[in-house]
Amino acid sequence: MHTTPGFPTLRIVSHPLVQHKLSILRDSETPTKIFKELVDEIAMLMAYEATSDLPLEDAAVSTPLERTIGRRVSGKKLTLVPILRAGLGMVEGIYRLVPGARVGHIGLYRDHDTLEPVDYYFKVPGDAPERDFFVLDPMLATGGSAAAAVASLKRAGATRIRFMCLVAAPEGVRRLASEHPDVIVYCAALDRELNEHGYILPGLGDAGDRLFGTR
Ligand code: PRP
Ligand code: URA
Repeated sequence: MHTTPGFPTLRIVSHPLVQHKLSILRDSETPTKIFKELVDEIAMLMAYEATSDLPLEDAAVSTPLERTIGRRVSGKKLTLVPILRAGLGMVEGIYRLVPGARVGHIGLYRDHDTLEPVDYYFKVPGDAPERDFFVLDPMLATGGSAAAAVASLKRAGATRIRFMCLVAAPEGVRRLASEHPDVIVYCAALDRELNEHGYILPGLGDAGDRLFGTR
């Protein structure tokens, strides 16, 4: 995982397996089934890196031979919050790593003309101040959806929020950093720019459509 100059909130997961799988994901010939599997796998590999700073505490454990002191994750309880719909594709892979996590949902879609997010659903656990949130969405484009999702979590009382995406545009990282400088962003790639329709270049196209076959 590395940082990049000019983007203080960004962490790029440069693991070779993540980079290899991302290239297959970008390929326009990759079919829906493989696309879905890859999003799941990349999310899991990214979560492995993004959780490397979780605090640990000692915990007594009895092996078949004797009692010893092991280690277990301590601190705030984890909550995964996919932004509907494309974020859903990232949940299961991460959940396999942290099966104790809760899952909230934020429904947002980007208006095709204004590119501004329109919200239609919000449900997270009631004890938000006690939780560590990972907001999930494969694409950070203008940053409007991510910034709106983070703002709604903060209104619900969340104080510790990270954002995980697969592909980020510089514009989106900057907007999220200016509105929410406390939110660390994990991505697999920082792409070049947005096109006039707000799509990331080179990107991977419409993540939701490619995940669910609605292209
Ligand atoms: C896509 C993507 C993000 C958003 C990113 O969702 O999954 O949520 O666009 O764009 P932004 O950074 O410019 O806000 P979309 O609006 O296509 O909805 P969908 O997942 O339901 O297809
Ligand atoms: N949403 C997507 O799914 N893809 C993009 O490139 C931008 C926004």
